[in-house]
Amino acid sequence: MPSSCIQAPPPFPAARLRRTRRTPALRALARETRLAPSDLIWPIFLIEGENAEEPVASMPGVARLSVDRAVAAAREAMALGIPALCLFPRTDPKAKTAGCEEAWNPDNLTNRAIRAIREAAPGIAIMTDIALDPYNPDGHDGFVRDGKIVNDETVEALVRMALAQAEAGADILGPSDMMDGRIGAIRTALENAGHEDVLILSYAAKYASAFYGPFRDAVGAGQALGKTALSGAARGDKSTYQMDPANTDEALRLVARDLSEGADMVMIKPGMPYLDVCARVKESFGVPTFAYQVSGEYAMIESAAARGWIDGEKAMLESLLAFKRAGCNGILTYFAPRVARLLAG
Ligand code: PBG
Repeated sequence: MPSSCIQAPPPFPAARLRRTRRTPALRALARETRLAPSDLIWPIFLIEGENAEEPVASMPGVARLSVDRAVAAAREAMALGIPALCLFPRTDPKAKTAGCEEAWNPDNLTNRAIRAIREAAPGIAIMTDIALDPYNPDGHDGFVRDGKIVNDETVEALVRMALAQAEAGADILGPSDMMDGRIGAIRTALENAGHEDVLILSYAAKYASAFYGPFRDAVGAGQALGKTALSGAARGDKSTYQMDPANTDEALRLVARDLSEGADMVMIKPGMPYLDVCARVKESFGVPTFAYQVSGEYAMIESAAARGWIDGEKAMLESLLAFKRAGCNGILTYFAPRVARLLAG
């Protein structure tokens, strides 16, 4: 984090600010922030099947994994020093219903993966996603009625989903739905069910962003979403519940609200276009703050690198270091295993 009290340098030549940049050793001594594998949360896409891996076309290098492969990924993460995975299911289209019942099925894809990973790699922290979009035939994060997302009924469903994930053994719940009141409702339900140790990492400031496109392909929500228009928004647009990219004061209000309702940690999403928000949140609240380097950010770096237009490895490291500089405690990134391998040398 930048210090608020910067000493003005004495006049030249007493100060030659290039002195500390002359060699790798001197640069290492003067370096203000560092990136480590312990800063990373690795998002993983799940599919049904066994020993199955399905590449995500819009995210080169990323594949959807069957549960056994996800277990192998968890073991790899442990070996690399990555402290947490975050699970996202690609639900079988046949299991999607208007009532989204699959979301709290104790044996749904996510909950089976939680149990399998918990057993095989007990040391890793397992994070989940709470939102209805993987289970909803229209790809929205909540129930749609008469062209509107119905907030309070959606929150009831999210609570059921949260309890099923906690029951399966999740360590960190990640409500990404942007409904009002869901953090408090989930926290109360967790306490009442004896899950007092389960963390909530709230997607507190989640913007209605164009950078989620590849993710929506990955979980299979994109096509349907593109056909559904809510009143007050265009087709495929979540602006009636996700934040306006023009706002930052609102982000602080959302973070304050979620913390007051029982969130342990907060997230800003997407990442790189919102570093100002990350810095303000960290400075204002001093709580564990995470950024999500989302699918579109990953795809931009990868596709430019594949064409030789940028150095992909350097761009990856630079983009992730930027989050640390902005004050984030950690980053959700699809680069997690690659960057951890690189940092291990
Ligand atoms: C949905 C959800 C989204 C992401 C995480 N959870 C997409 C959306 O809000 O439409 C995006 C992640 C990414 O783009 O990498 N609840």
